[in-house]
Amino acid sequence: MKILGAESLHLVYALLIFLPMHTSIGSNSTTADDGVKCIENERQALLAFKQGLVDEHGWLSSWGSEEGKKNCCEWEGVQCSNTTGHITMLNLTTYPDYRYFILRGNLSPSLFELQHLIYLDLSGNNFNLNHIPESIGSLNKIRHLDLYQCNLSGSLPSQLANLASLQYLDLSYNNFNSVQNLGWLPRLSYLQDLGLSDIDFSTVNKDALQVINKLPHLTGLSLCRCNLRDVNPQYFPKISTSSTSLIHLRLRSTNLTTSAFQWLFNFSKSLVSLDLSSNQFRGPIPETFSYMTHLEDLFLDDNQFEGEIPKSFWSGNLSSLQYLGLSNNKLSGNIPKSMGLLSKLEGLSISFNSFNGVITEEHFSTLSNLWYLSMSSNHLSINFSHDWIPPFQLKYIYLGSCKLGPDFPSWIQTQRNYRVLNISATGISNSIPIWFGKLPSTARVIDLSSNQVSGILPNLSRNFSSDSHALGINLSGNHLEGPLPSFPANTTHINLSKNRFNGSISSLCHMTGMSLEFLDLSSNQLSGELPDCMMHWSSLQILNLANNHFFGKISSFVGSLSLIETLDLQNNNLSGKIPNSLRNCNKLQFLGLSNNKLSGKIPGWIGDKSNSLNFLLLKSNHFVGKIPLEICRLTNILLLDLSCNNLSGDIPRCIGNLIALTRKDISAKHHFFNSSLVHNTYYDSEGSYADKASVIWKGIEHHYENLTLQRTIDLSSNKLTGEIPVQISVLLELVQLNLSRNQLTGCIPSNIGQMRKLESLDLSWNQLSGQLPRSVSQLNFLSILNLSYNNFSGRIPLGPQIRTFDASSFVHNPALCGLPLTPTCPGDEKSESKPKNRDIAEFWKSFKPGMKLGAAIGFVGVLAVKLDHPWKHLCFMLFNNVRVRLSNLKDCFYLLVAAVGLLVREHVSRLGRNLKLCEPSVSP
Ligand SMILES: *[C@@H]1O[C@H](CO)[C@@H](O)[C@H](O)[C@H]1NC(C)=O
Ligand SMILES: *[C@@H]1O[C@H](CO)[C@@H](O)[C@H](O)[C@H]1NC(C)=O
Ligand SMILES: *[C@@H]1O[C@H](CO)[C@@H](O)[C@H](O)[C@H]1NC(C)=O
Ligand SMILES: *[C@@H]1O[C@H](CO)[C@@H](O)[C@H](O)[C@H]1NC(C)=O
Ligand SMILES: *[C@@H]1O[C@H](CO)[C@@H](O)[C@H](O)[C@H]1NC(C)=O
Ligand SMILES: *[C@@H]1O[C@H](CO)[C@@H](O)[C@H](O)[C@H]1NC(C)=O
Ligand SMILES: *[C@@H]1O[C@H](CO)[C@@H](O)[C@H](O)[C@H]1NC(C)=O
Repeated sequence: MKILGAESLHLVYALLIFLPMHTSIGSNSTTADDGVKCIENERQALLAFKQGLVDEHGWLSSWGSEEGKKNCCEWEGVQCSNTTGHITMLNLTTYPDYRYFILRGNLSPSLFELQHLIYLDLSGNNFNLNHIPESIGSLNKIRHLDLYQCNLSGSLPSQLANLASLQYLDLSYNNFNSVQNLGWLPRLSYLQDLGLSDIDFSTVNKDALQVINKLPHLTGLSLCRCNLRDVNPQYFPKISTSSTSLIHLRLRSTNLTTSAFQWLFNFSKSLVSLDLSSNQFRGPIPETFSYMTHLEDLFLDDNQFEGEIPKSFWSGNLSSLQYLGLSNNKLSGNIPKSMGLLSKLEGLSISFNSFNGVITEEHFSTLSNLWYLSMSSNHLSINFSHDWIPPFQLKYIYLGSCKLGPDFPSWIQTQRNYRVLNISATGISNSIPIWFGKLPSTARVIDLSSNQVSGILPNLSRNFSSDSHALGINLSGNHLEGPLPSFPANTTHINLSKNRFNGSISSLCHMTGMSLEFLDLSSNQLSGELPDCMMHWSSLQILNLANNHFFGKISSFVGSLSLIETLDLQNNNLSGKIPNSLRNCNKLQFLGLSNNKLSGKIPGWIGDKSNSLNFLLLKSNHFVGKIPLEICRLTNILLLDLSCNNLSGDIPRCIGNLIALTRKDISAKHHFFNSSLVHNTYYDSEGSYADKASVIWKGIEHHYENLTLQRTIDLSSNKLTGEIPVQISVLLELVQLNLSRNQLTGCIPSNIGQMRKLESLDLSWNQLSGQLPRSVSQLNFLSILNLSYNNFSGRIPLGPQIRTFDASSFVHNPALCGLPLTPTCPGDEKSESKPKNRDIAEFWKSFKPGMKLGAAIGFVGVLAVKLDHPWKHLCFMLFNNVRVRLSNLKDCFYLLVAAVGLLVREHVSRLGRNLKLCEPSVSP
């Protein structure tokens, strides 16, 4: 199972109460008592199996040859028959505590020497793409085989046909090859539950699914992610014609469309659980679902259903319903109070729709079993009275962007078991209650972001016993003030950004549990020095303290943050040097130190971050010395901002080595968290975090929440000298180049026109000279151009994009002329009497080289045919075609000569172009 979005009821449901398709196992196999000795070759088989595994958490520590571990019937996950002593059961599933313990390694064939196995469950472990050994066929007594999500691959062995006693078979979510043949399946005639999710059936013939009809006892079928899009529903197995009928049917992500309804409704009478989420259903929800009177779980999430929920859903018909998932559709209308008739409801998910109206306590008065409630992202108001005591204890509360405020919802105080509380952007605008500080021992994610909650945040605490659980807290974007509170020791994610907290951050120093992965305290009024205790936060991946008043040095604690990916300390008062210990941070992707008082040189070791660093922001400090050549090793850099310092010397010529600025396919790496907070709701749905920063963009400071698109080099306002390296023009993906306010000399590299992505080019306030390269006119995306305050000379090139700039882009270049600066250039008057030569030359220039060649060839060709009256006719014919009106033959002749001359010059200058740094000077 892939854990994707945050608020999907069926996922949580599947996680918590996994294995809904239970079969009973042999009643005479049980944990061995002292009298039962395990059988030696079976013991050896298990040890061989263990040998191939990496058991990081010591899950199988009871498996061994030492004294006291000899009896394999007492080993973890093992059960033996109390009569024969044979191993009958091996249960090593990672569910329901998915992700905590996972075995990794080989699926040793020795396992299948356990020929008396009745029950084998290895689901959720990672067998490194092993194939299922053919010897699996020797498990001829097995009734329950669960290989769900085991990272197995290869083809399904035909030996599966030997497992004739199987009642339960789950092979879902592995990496098996596409299935050619399901011929082995009908041999498993006792099969009751069959899971083949995420197996590719596209290469089996169309009626292969019919073999499923030959399973007379089948009651549960999972074909999620099996892409049935091109299978006509008439080929779907008509299981209802067999002796039993389907009870559990899971068809999530199978590309089904409305045409499958007719087939589905065959099972109306029998179905108890039905998962149709993530398909292509559209239109209204058919009322027929409400005739499925045995339904306990119905998941229709993530389709394109629209309109209102059928009224009949809320009648007594579906009174067995326990889980109803409708999230992520286009549903609208009110939720009627008669919802209360579904009194067995345990989970309700209607988030991400367009429902409106008011939800009151009457809706919930009978729902005493409810533990999962998700109503986020609708237009709902939730209006419970102050003293209401709900009949339920929720574990998951997703009410983001419902209207709950302005008062802090006091009913939440009554909920003492929740894992997730998301009441972000719910319009709460009064102060935070004291009781809020005493979090339930179960709490894992708290999201109160984007409200106007005010006051002093109480210390957050949980029962000591539960402190080993990860906890993520997001209170960003509120009006909280006062000193930072303390947090439970195992808090992994803290986001208090955009509040009014003040004082130092030393109150976080007690968090030595090494669990903190994410700390965002940006945009507050925090001050003081950065405490050395931060060196204990060795799991930290994101540290954002930007926009505060921190001062003092960045001490060597940063060197202990070996997993740090983002270090954002921008806009503080930090001083001293960039600490050398930062060298140890090999995963650094974002280093933001702009707007501080840092000094010293930019260290050369920064180039060691070549594999990781995407963003280097050192703007507005007191850095001195040269730009180190090592900077060119930052092959992943997307944004380099060294502006407003005292840097001197040349711009390194190796700058063309910044290959991330030359290639489209390199982008910033995503930050992903290892945390076990699967259902974290306060990053985007994948649990990632986008680096953000303020960047001067086209002359204006902009704040970017997602920086990956702003490929920028900003070296402005330093004391850089020398020429602009011609190599800069290979940075074809660069969007913004700012070299203004330096002491650069020489001219603009003539190939600048190939930097077609440039949107902003600022070279103002330097001592640049020479002609503006004609290729500037090829910068079609340019919306900011500033060349003012230099010594450029000659004519401003023509071009549609250049024409959009006004004189301010060019002023204070004494020898520069032409529009928009001056109407004419010196010397233009002279040619006024014979303007045609120039105009024709301009016209001719507008041809692409290929066209010119074509015209020349055409000219020669026509010359050959029309010899009778050559010059006159030819000339007119040729140029009439290209719509130039010529008054007499003489002009036409001039034109031809001019054309041939230009053609020759063009070829000569193209040959020389790569050798020349600057555009050749052509007198205007
Ligand atoms: C135990 O199960 C075996 C086969 O699984 C059967 O032959 C035997 O009779 C059962 N014994 C008891 C005591 O139920
Ligand atoms: C085997 O275990 C079952 C279940 O605990 C018990 O009912 C049965 O009496 C045991 N049989 C023997 C022979 O000990
Ligand atoms: C298998 O182990 C899991 C996890 O320990 C447990 O929840 C489940 O009940 C076990 N299954 C059986 C049939 O004992
Ligand atoms: C599956 O195994 C392969 C090979 O060891 C490994 O690269 C991959 O990450 C594994 N997939 C998962 C989901 O664990
Ligand atoms: C649905 O079908 C389309 C087109 O055949 C395919 O690209 C897509 O991957 C399918 N989706 C799933 C979930 O199988
Ligand atoms: C939780 O904190 C304790 C110390 O308070 C620590 O021993 C434990 O490893 C932490 N657990 C996790 C998951 O970080
Ligand atoms: C940032 O933008 C890139 C490019 O558009 C996109 O692929 C990425 O998903 C965005 N990241 C976030 C967190 O929005």
